[in-house]
Amino acid sequence: MKVLVIGNGGREHALAWKLNESPSVDKIYLAKGNGGTSSFCENVDIDPSDIEGLLKFALKEKIDFTVVGPEDPLCMGIVDKFRENGLKIFGPNKECAKFEKSKEFTKIFLEKYNIPTAKYLSFTDYDKAINSLDKFSYPLVVKADGLCLGKGVLICENKEEAVDALDKIFKERVFGSEGDKVVIEEFLTGEEASLLCLVSNNKLYPLERAKDHKQIYDGDKGPNTGGVGTYSPVKASDELAKNLREVCDKIEEGFDKENLNYSGILFIGFMIEDDKPKVLEFNVRFGDPETEVLMPRLDSDLFELLNKTVDGELKEEDIVWKDDYCLTVIMCSGGYPASYEKGKVIEGIEDTDEDIIIFHNGTKLDKELLTNGGRVLSVTALGKTLKEAREKAYENVEKIHFDGAYYRKDIGTK
Ligand code: AMP
Ligand code: GLY
Repeated sequence: MKVLVIGNGGREHALAWKLNESPSVDKIYLAKGNGGTSSFCENVDIDPSDIEGLLKFALKEKIDFTVVGPEDPLCMGIVDKFRENGLKIFGPNKECAKFEKSKEFTKIFLEKYNIPTAKYLSFTDYDKAINSLDKFSYPLVVKADGLCLGKGVLICENKEEAVDALDKIFKERVFGSEGDKVVIEEFLTGEEASLLCLVSNNKLYPLERAKDHKQIYDGDKGPNTGGVGTYSPVKASDELAKNLREVCDKIEEGFDKENLNYSGILFIGFMIEDDKPKVLEFNVRFGDPETEVLMPRLDSDLFELLNKTVDGELKEEDIVWKDDYCLTVIMCSGGYPASYEKGKVIEGIEDTDEDIIIFHNGTKLDKELLTNGGRVLSVTALGKTLKEAREKAYENVEKIHFDGAYYRKDIGTK
């Protein structure tokens, strides 16, 4: 089989790395890939959002199976386009990708199917949004409806900040047309957690849980990032497990009643308090860096899982995990998530232990290996315990060097 993986990051590196283990997979292409993927895949210089270019390539190379990493091509309808052309592809269609493309779309679905979530109102009109602010208590959350690279959520401590947030979105149009609509919602407290599910024929098959670390500094301080460290598994109490399953059941019911045909991944972001989960958001793709710890722990053949998911034939017993813990520390460029420099020479990867897996988030090969993004490398270790995985990962992080390298020291210590 010839497989095409779409995307450039650590998530796509991890998916390709796991697909490469499958006896069914002969060759993997990555569009565009990065400095770490060219050692076992063919990097193809087509942008993940260039749907026509990708389609032309897949037809010409007779690609048997395509896996989509990021949300942009999904929201643009790559899955519909490939299927119309007789190509097999893993991911939700354009209609289902609306769960990530529009926060309001998701909120309407959650309320309709009685799925716990923060109370909200949505607006396309600035004055109406301003006038609503007295209906909420503070802090409250102002969200641009559309895709904003994870930056569209503004937590406001008081009315002044909320007015400021609405000015930014509606007047300054910092998110362009992605901010044509705004969702204002109640601020939830608790512990954030995510659940990734394979979805086959509208049925949800949860993967084992992974804990992301979103803030840039130790102790969950500082601005949010895409995620700078993660570990798996995360155990749930019986009560929480039951409540999470109940949410999944309601989502399945909603998909059926809305006559959707969901297939691919559903990433459910939760806020959990007293074992009661409330949904913060849906994403329609694998998480990054969650995927970097899930793939090394997966015992099953990833190609078979994804293929069965597309065929609507996945069964719970198909998904088998290793007992090991897995932990990733992400080495970032100094300054991330604000501005940072690229093109720093990366040294020391060859000195890392043989059993350490290094997924590349943002690198490129230009004679030397260079940094090429805010998140640079996911240094990943398996261990019999979380402590063992953590110690192995950090021992090896210290062997890798580039100018300005920064990483959190407390991944997996909480
Ligand atoms: P989202 O893109 O909706 O997941 O929001 C990004 C981040 O903002 C989340 O990971 C949370 O940390 C925070 N957030 C979003 N909505 C809320 C909420 N209603 N209450 C508290 N925090 C929130
Ligand atoms: N790690 C969070 C995300 O992928 O959105």
